[in-house]
Amino acid sequence: SNCSRRSVWTEEQFRHTMPKRKQYSHKGTHGKGLAAGGSAEMPGSIAMTASAALRSGAGLITAATVRSAIPTVASQCVEATYLALEETDGLLTCDRPISFDHYDAVAMGMGMGRHVEGRRFIQEALEKATTPLIIDADGLYHVKALLESLKRRWAPVILTPHLGEMAMLAGITVSELRQRPFAYAKTFAENYGVHLVLKGPFTIITSPDGCQTVTTVGNAGLAKGGSGDVLSGVILAMMMQDQSIMEALGNACFAHGKAADMLVSESHSMYDLIASDLLHEMVNVYRTCI
Ligand code: APR
Ligand code: MG
Repeated sequence: SNCSRRSVWTEEQFRHTMPKRKQYSHKGTHGKGLAAGGSAEMPGSIAMTASAALRSGAGLITAATVRSAIPTVASQCVEATYLALEETDGLLTCDRPISFDHYDAVAMGMGMGRHVEGRRFIQEALEKATTPLIIDADGLYHVKALLESLKRRWAPVILTPHLGEMAMLAGITVSELRQRPFAYAKTFAENYGVHLVLKGPFTIITSPDGCQTVTTVGNAGLAKGGSGDVLSGVILAMMMQDQSIMEALGNACFAHGKAADMLVSESHSMYDLIASDLLHEMVNVYRTCI
């Protein structure tokens, strides 16, 4: 590998690498993104991902989710446009092809469930889409069954596992992973040619060539369902704007953790912080840190 040193992704780097908003921009300038996932039992996941992307500079966001959940999700994120996915028992199925390449980046897997019919949805994207794919949560369980497709794919893939999901992907135990998180992340990213965001109290970001950077912001207020869905949306937005992939990932993880830190220092506690609070706080991160 061509990088031997690890670095911390700092506020300075965030300030210097965040793209400046162009004065004469229109919504198309800032990209089109797709957030795909959700289910009847987890409708909120996709609303949080879509809202987080819009709060992070994305021009246009389409949320693809099960048809029955659209009224609920749309009432939680009124700025997105919607794509109805066919469903069985409240879980998305892959009945017709989706034009993934119509978008500048795609985030998928949040709240989708682990049913086998859903696997084809992830497989189609891995095998056909040439646009960058961000795969999170239940989508990662499908990736575990699609490692050959992952290896064959040349277009960018970003996987965003927490420790349990990473251990599952790598076929190791969580305690093994805890002992050598950098090494396991690097091996996996290099073997499968993916960008990896290994989430936890510290978040380790690894490129396919084994470069690693860490974010140290964030706090235990984030240890609550939904905060991962928000991170997926921030990553989606950063991937749609003019940054290198490592910059996009460093900046997304920084902004997400920093929002939690600002909330806890200014107005909230780690007990009451919930994921949707982060959406509003992104305002202060972008206002004060850029
Ligand atoms: N300190 C700092 N950051 C933290 C901490 C902590 N103690 N705990 C969590 N975080 C951050 C992580 O770095 C990550 O960005 O919060 C986010 C949590 O993401 P996930 O673990 O994916 O959590 P989330 O998806 O919201 O909820 C758990 O994920 O895998 C599924 O089935 C699982 O439904 C469950 C869901
Ligand atoms: Mg998660």
